[in-house]
Amino acid sequence: MTESFDALWSAIVEVGRSGTTGGYHRYALTEEDHLLREWFAGEAGARGLTLTEDRMGNQWTWWGDPDERPGVVTGSHLDSVPDGGAFDGPLGVISAFAAIDRLREQGFRPDRPIGVVHFGDEEGARFGVACAGSRVITGALPAERALGLVDCDGVTVAEALRGAGRSPDMVGPDAETVRRVGSFVELHVEQGRGLVHLGQPVGIGTHIWPHGRWRLDFPGEANHAGTTAMADRRDAMIPLAEAVLTARQAGLAEGCVATVGRIDVRPGGVNAVPGATTAWLDARGAHEEALRRTVAAVIAVADTAEGSVREESWTPVTRFDATLIKRLQNVLPDAPQLGTGAGHDAGILANAEIPAAMIFVRNPTGISHSPAEFAERDDCTAGVEALAEVLRALTGDAG
Ligand code: GLV
Ligand code: MN
Ligand code: MN
Repeated sequence: MTESFDALWSAIVEVGRSGTTGGYHRYALTEEDHLLREWFAGEAGARGLTLTEDRMGNQWTWWGDPDERPGVVTGSHLDSVPDGGAFDGPLGVISAFAAIDRLREQGFRPDRPIGVVHFGDEEGARFGVACAGSRVITGALPAERALGLVDCDGVTVAEALRGAGRSPDMVGPDAETVRRVGSFVELHVEQGRGLVHLGQPVGIGTHIWPHGRWRLDFPGEANHAGTTAMADRRDAMIPLAEAVLTARQAGLAEGCVATVGRIDVRPGGVNAVPGATTAWLDARGAHEEALRRTVAAVIAVADTAEGSVREESWTPVTRFDATLIKRLQNVLPDAPQLGTGAGHDAGILANAEIPAAMIFVRNPTGISHSPAEFAERDDCTAGVEALAEVLRALTGDAG
């Protein structure tokens, strides 16, 4: 089992990896994405599994026929944030194949189909909307909106799809694919230190905080940095700076987390007063009311500066399926239950009424979305074993 995990891991470890930082740059509809899709298809083929692609290009591979009976699906995503870690996403896909290998080595024959999914564009690093793959097929993100999303070079999803040799006409909700998913269990590296404190290698995910992303555009007037008196300036950087500080203050006051992790300044000259700026706010919190107040405080800054605000995505609190959690707990009696502030495709499926749950693997530092993200090899092995046992229980005689 560990050989299978190691082989899967080493096959993609270099894809999109920066030689300087060791971080990953794997974005939707790029060369790296293409290589990862080829790898996924190859691993499916090597195991004699059937491969299908849904109406957003997510890849699904099946052991058994999900049109006879909906299956139990596992898997995750392979894309990354800018300079992301190796585990966020890939650990779930690699563990899914490794768990199937383990079950087969043990001679297990499922009574229900087992599926592995590779969701595209989970991080939304290129086009701005997280979990775009799962949102489109479940109808949470309308096709027209998805196709019109633009990257920082102005390339739309529709254009990028065509560039990748795929047709935008196919994009849309995919009831046929969704119907095949009887339940979904996503294994994921923990993005915090909950399991470290609890002294356990694996845990069971119970819920995801409400969270969203907002784009703030601030107007100004570009001018010469040396000859424009301070009193005469309309500097678009100033309200952006106020928005950043407000996000922090409001987040602290409301017990939420609020982040401005990306900005754009135009024209972008050291010696030019900024004429226009854009900031992207990511805000999350355990309590929706508090989160809404946090975001409202930042929006008020934009309103005062005659800026504009666009909600790019919003996901309400997501509670994973109580019955499924109970079944996971029966299989993994020592695994603690914990929630998370991170978004996942499992949350999108849960909000589309598909019974979903998650398995988290301990992360010793809790760091994620950074090259420092890590999980010990033994904990990854424990994760594969846990996932295999869960799949066995959900697809065996009693499944
Ligand atoms: C996904 O990793 C997110 O929570 O941003
Ligand atoms: Mn992530
Ligand atoms: Mn992830």
